[in-house]
Amino acid sequence: MKLPVYCYGHPVLREVSKPLDQSFEGLGELVDLMFEAMYESEGVGLAAPQIGKNIRLVVIDADPVAESFPECAGRKMVLVNPEIEILDGDTVSRSEGCLSLPGISEKVPRVEHIRLRWLDENLQPHDEEISGFLARIVQHECDHLEGRVFIDHISGIRKQLIKRKLADIVAGKIRVDYPVRFAPRKK
Ligand code: NI
Repeated sequence: MKLPVYCYGHPVLREVSKPLDQSFEGLGELVDLMFEAMYESEGVGLAAPQIGKNIRLVVIDADPVAESFPECAGRKMVLVNPEIEILDGDTVSRSEGCLSLPGISEKVPRVEHIRLRWLDENLQPHDEEISGFLARIVQHECDHLEGRVFIDHISGIRKQLIKRKLADIVAGKIRVDYPVRFAPRKK
């Protein structure tokens, strides 16, 4: 069974997700399914809200972009209850996309240096300073846990320019070559 990726317009992407506690069952299997969905759709990160679950869980495999961004080499991570601390407020703008917004990419300003605290899939704690594109991926995925998507960071003018494309995603009028679930129809 392949997990579908929930698309922009679905209310699950706008919820603030709940922390995952020790009693959560089936974390290993869920993580495996999320990696599978992420690889199927050729993404480098996937957050639990994108598979319809409002829990603070993210999977990342940044290795495919390591040629352009060496800091991503070998970085396969499971983030449970991640917490970001901004270490340097200067932002850099780079192009981003999202599996929940097929066919859209926009430049998004993000800080370059963060400190990340998280639990891994065995609920072991980690604390690390992370930079560059890996820090960008982490910020993008952690935004999903707050009910935000990357286009929330772009200008009103840019948003106006992609208005039609967004409406097509919301209405499910696009073709996507991985399993997706569109927003429920408005009555
Ligand atoms: Ni995303």
